[in-house]
Order: sequence, then C-alpha cells, then structure tokens
Amino acid sequence: MSERLTKSAARNIFYGGTAFFIVLFIALSVHTHLYIVNTSTDETTLTESVTRGKHVWERNACINCHSLLGEGAYFAPELGNVWVRYGGRDHAEGARMGLKAWMRAQPTRVPGRRQMPQFNLSEQELDDLIDFFEWTSRIDTQGWPPNTAG
Ligand code: HEC
Repeated sequence: MSERLTKSAARNIFYGGTAFFIVLFIALSVHTHLYIVNTSTDETTLTESVTRGKHVWERNACINCHSLLGEGAYFAPELGNVWVRYGGRDHAEGARMGLKAWMRAQPTRVPGRRQMPQFNLSEQELDDLIDFFEWTSRIDTQGWPPNTAG
C-alpha cells in the first residue's frame, strides 16, 4: 500500500471536513439562538415599554458613543449594566431618578471631560429607556462585563 496521500483521499478529507464543519456551525448557531431565547433572556418580562425603550435607544443612536453588552463604540461607558451601577437592584426608584437626572443634566460642560449631548427626551421616553436598561441588566451574560464599571 502506498504511503502517499492520494488525490481522491485528499479530496475526501476536504469535502468531509467542510461538510462536518458546516454542520457543526449550523448546530452551534441553533444552540446559541435557543440559549438566548430560552435561558439567558427573560421573555416574559419583555414588556411594551422595554420595546419602546429599545426604539428610543436606536432612534438616538446612543450606540455611536456607548457600548451595550460590549457591542458599540468605546467613547462612553458601557450601558448594559448602567442600571446595576446606579444601584437599581436595591433601589429601583433611586436609580430611575438618578438616570433621568443624568440625561437631563447633559452636557455637563466640565472642562477636560468627554461630553454627552442633550437629547431632550420626554418623561415617557426616559421611562421606556430606563425600562430597557433594567431589562438588559437581567440578561445572563455569564459574568460580562467583569466589573460594574463596565
Ligand atoms: C456623542 C457621544 C454620546 C452619545 C451619542 C450618547 N452618550 Fe451617553 N455618555 C457620553 C459620555 C462621554 C458619557 C460620560 C460622561 C461623563 O462621565 O462625564 C456618557 C454617559 C452616559 C450615562 C451615564 C453612565 C454612567 O455610568 O454614569 C448614561 C446613562 C448615558 N450616557 C446614556 C445615554 C443614552 C441613553 C444615549 C442615547 C439617547 C446616550 N447616552 C448617547 C457620550 C454620549
């Protein structure tokens, strides 16, 4: 028997390997999707206001400066856990007031500090946005970001 790899054996390894990894990729994608939908997010608390809040987030392109669970721009703080950072887990009302006050106080015009624009969001838009942050903070990100500072 020849020790050399024949052309047809090489072809079979190529096709077999390609097929194997395509199947593996599809299986892992399906698994990831099911994990996101069933385990890491809480669909039952995905209310209308959370959805509206996400639209406020998108319409105003907050992601152009901020990241949300690591996705986005790194000019301004991560906001996937801003609810936790503002103490929302222990004092929901305090965190809500704090976040609204922050949004209304921008820009701070403190010299040497990065600035955030004023978005003039309505009370309803702010409440929706904060509901979205609260919901996002409960996504099981398996410990990411590693600290509350984000
Ligand atoms: C032009 C860039 C920019 C955009 C767009 C922007 N931000 Fe910011 N944001 C900042 C900067 C810079 C800071 C930090 C400022 C500081 O610490 O003084 C900040 C801070 C924040 C904080 C406080 C974070 C913390 O941990 O204290 C919140 C909440 C926030 N932004 C929400 C939003 C929301 C909601 C939007 C969209 C409606 C938005 N930002 C859009 C630049 C931006």
